[in-house]
Amino acid sequence: MNTQHLIDTARALVADDKGLLAMDESDPTCNKRFVAVKIPQTEEARRAWRELIVTTPGLSESISGAILYDATIRQQSKNGMPLIKVLAEAGIIAGIKVDAGAKDMAAHPGEKITRSGRIARSSHGICSDGRPFCQVARGNYPRRGYPQLRLHRGQRTCIGALCQESGLVPIVEPEVLMDGEHSLQRCGEVTEQVLRAVFHQLYLQRVKLEGMLLKPNMVLPGLGCSKQATADEVAAATISCFLRAVPAAVPGIAFLSGGQTGELASARLNAMNLRVKSGLPWALGFSFARAIQQPALGIWQGEEGNVKAAQQALLHRARCNQAARRGEYNAAMELMPHPGSPASTSAAR
Ligand code: 13P
Repeated sequence: MNTQHLIDTARALVADDKGLLAMDESDPTCNKRFVAVKIPQTEEARRAWRELIVTTPGLSESISGAILYDATIRQQSKNGMPLIKVLAEAGIIAGIKVDAGAKDMAAHPGEKITRSGRIARSSHGICSDGRPFCQVARGNYPRRGYPQLRLHRGQRTCIGALCQESGLVPIVEPEVLMDGEHSLQRCGEVTEQVLRAVFHQLYLQRVKLEGMLLKPNMVLPGLGCSKQATADEVAAATISCFLRAVPAAVPGIAFLSGGQTGELASARLNAMNLRVKSGLPWALGFSFARAIQQPALGIWQGEEGNVKAAQQALLHRARCNQAARRGEYNAAMELMPHPGSPASTSAAR
């Protein structure tokens, strides 16, 4: 195992206040997002959407890496260039989702594990992804066996260790879902429990913490909770939870967005970075899918004529999140006209 390569890659993924763009939706998930904005659920539409994303001019200024779905590794642009080559030429590190989707976990209602995927040795894919998740609200989740079972999964080694053996930086993604009526405090308790169990397993499996990234949920009240939290409250709860549970050797925490709007995800990430500036052991960054892609998808609607405006909207969200890493994001950034903003988009149509 080339440990230095893993460490260098993990650090590069969080350097320069850049972040990750998750574009690893499985076909069914991608189709679900397309249905919501009336885009046909075809293979060609999925390919065209991914081409739109990776060919966005200037994306590499705020995005260090892109996590791809298995099929995208083999997809090409309209003019025949493999999409992973487009990313490489832009200076964006390509990663691959290595799990094969989520399934219900036996005897643990409300919890899911990801199914075994393949771990390929690849000269392109140097980061990876895997997403066990649990709901807080029903019962007393997570149950004690959950992270252990998830990480062993009938194998003697966890996915993180297998990734590192194959030269891939594992992006370990435990998610406590926003669904439910639980409080901010309860989410913090459950998130801490999950993180402690995950890191215990990573230790037992000898995963090099310096050569991995953590991709967790922010600590948030459930969507149905009557008391929602301010960005500052979210920042305080998230940071104190992570300080207790995430070892300092981990170079970066790249949050998933979990269904938050783009604006909220940026505002909360910004509040965290503003609160601590440089006093934390790990970089606090992003690995968002919906919070970066969603506005652009709504603008694109599968139409060639909307590609440029959609790319501007995508770039705008990526830049907002880079600003949030610096603690420089503010609501005024959303008001500044940019070619993908709603006002200018309707003018362009
Ligand atoms: P969201 O940011 O939409 O939660 O997704 C993250 C992710 O990893 C998708 O695979």
